[in-house]
Amino acid sequence: MLLFIENLHIHFSTFEGTAKVLNGVSLSIRDGERVGLVGETGCGKSITLKALLRILPTPPGRIVQGRILFKERDLLQMSYRELHAVRGCDIALVPQEPVGSLNPVFTIEEQMVDLILWQGRVNVNWGTYVATPLMGRAGRKVARAKALDHLVKVNIPDPERVLRSYPVELSGGMCQRVLIAMALASHPSLLIADEPGTALDVTTQAQILRLLKERVREEGLAILYVTHNLGVAREMSERIYVMYAGEIAETAPTNQLFSSPKHPYTQGLIASIPKLTGSELEGIPGRIPDYVSPPQGCRFQPRCEWAVPACATVQPRLRPVAAGHEVACHLHDPAFFQG
Ligand SMILES: Nc1ncnc2c1ncn2[C@@H]1O[C@H](COP(=O)(O)OP(=O)(O)OP(=O)(O)O)[C@@H](O)[C@H]1O
Ligand code: SF4
Ligand SMILES: [Mg+2]
Repeated sequence: MLLFIENLHIHFSTFEGTAKVLNGVSLSIRDGERVGLVGETGCGKSITLKALLRILPTPPGRIVQGRILFKERDLLQMSYRELHAVRGCDIALVPQEPVGSLNPVFTIEEQMVDLILWQGRVNVNWGTYVATPLMGRAGRKVARAKALDHLVKVNIPDPERVLRSYPVELSGGMCQRVLIAMALASHPSLLIADEPGTALDVTTQAQILRLLKERVREEGLAILYVTHNLGVAREMSERIYVMYAGEIAETAPTNQLFSSPKHPYTQGLIASIPKLTGSELEGIPGRIPDYVSPPQGCRFQPRCEWAVPACATVQPRLRPVAAGHEVACHLHDPAFFQG
């Protein structure tokens, strides 16, 4: 297993009290697997990623329980030095906001060359820095050639001009391509994408998604693709985790999730995808619960049209319903009804 998040609980201290945001999230990704994490705004997708990258603000956040294993090493227990070697090299991030994620006062060339030189010095296995031939002026020349090569791979038409440019001189779509090139420059094992391109127009966003999918496939990388859009997750992933209010509601191979969704929330999300048939859009009435005093049983219970009285008191656990398909809903737990 490449990545294994096990039973992650994250709380936040707020003026209103303790917000119990993540409530036992487990998620795994195999080598080269394309995995989607989907859920509506505020359900805890970015918090999960921040914990994984160890950039969760603590305080007010606190990891109360759980493990995050990457290549069988616990990221939460790693020293800063080890972490520094893994993050940005073996695990890379494609951020959501393209222009603001680049440094405005340096050219693309300066940013890419510095990154490639830094990556060349990090010994990922030992978490130490090593001197490599990529030092000095000659090293910068080699790194520049690599940067150019990476820009060509993300279909940038005039890479020499882009290298000389400052981020403000480029369009949002071009900055997003540069960020993808930077993320792929270290040949990571895992790419994390948190809704990249949502700040861009629809056409550019579609181009960026196509590019990302193509590059990930060609390089054989694993990707964790985070989005609130189930249609986009379907395009990008071979397996999907559906998240609701800080818990995993359901996971299944993408085709199976769409052909046979089990959780009422997943069914509602699928029904909400706009269709070209002209039929009415069915949203899910209600909103994510307050994390300071969430419902005691199933967190989806206040919005669920299938809820039975016990749903208000007993928390459903993820259990298998078919190969690779797990759902956290009492309706799919025969033992619950027998008991
Ligand atoms: N610094 C913070 N202090 C208190 N609560 C926080 C903080 N950051 C996040 N939260 C809580 O965690 C919840 C989940 O936030 P998160 O950013 O993970 O949502 P998300 O699923 O990524 O949503 P979106 O689709 O809008 O990006 C928020 O609704 C908020 O209640
Ligand atoms: S456990 Fe109960 S409330 Fe929760 S989704 Fe299933 S039926 Fe609905
Ligand atoms: Mg988010």
